[in-house]
Amino acid sequence: MKPSVQSILITESQIEKRVHELGKQISKDYDKSDLVLICVLKGAILFFADLIRTLAVPARYEFVQLASYHNDTKSSGVQMIQGLYQDLFRADVLIVEDIVDTGMTLDFLLNHIESFEPTSVKVCSLLDKPDRREVPVTIDYLGFKIPNSFVVGYGLDFAQHYRNLPYIGVLDGDSVALGS
Ligand code: IMP
Repeated sequence: MKPSVQSILITESQIEKRVHELGKQISKDYDKSDLVLICVLKGAILFFADLIRTLAVPARYEFVQLASYHNDTKSSGVQMIQGLYQDLFRADVLIVEDIVDTGMTLDFLLNHIESFEPTSVKVCSLLDKPDRREVPVTIDYLGFKIPNSFVVGYGLDFAQHYRNLPYIGVLDGDSVALGS
């Protein structure tokens, strides 16, 4: 049976307020830039859709999809399921993520994007779980720092469920193995 949502960590109105604040800051920082926003599927989709509509600057956008894998020689790694179609050469790239946990996904994506030789690459993440970090990464625009709990909603899933919740909720404890 699916675990249930135990409590709401971040409400719909808190998310809305923070998204507008981030949009305002990003619009200011990227005035007169060739901004390309990269949405990391599937988790960032709701955050991305809300964020880009708060921007006061013209921007291109792209989607990438990444997956974590496990094997015998390496404890974990990341692979790209859907890559980029637009040329990022000399672009100002802003990666939009749902959550930074170990940092491995973001580290992989940053290295991949750097190979296109963009002018700049920055990161906007809705959530940050710093206690779980294994690879150091910089988050330039952050929505909320959260404790080490497994969260769902507003794009984030547990076994593909709960993505459509309009808030960020904590799942009922023991049934969720972090990092799986
Ligand atoms: P990483 O460990 O920083 O590479 O995070 C990889 C991915 O794990 C994120 O993009 C999320 O899709 C997923 N993830 C990490 N923590 C959570 C969580 O608390 N809830 C749902 N997904 C999570």
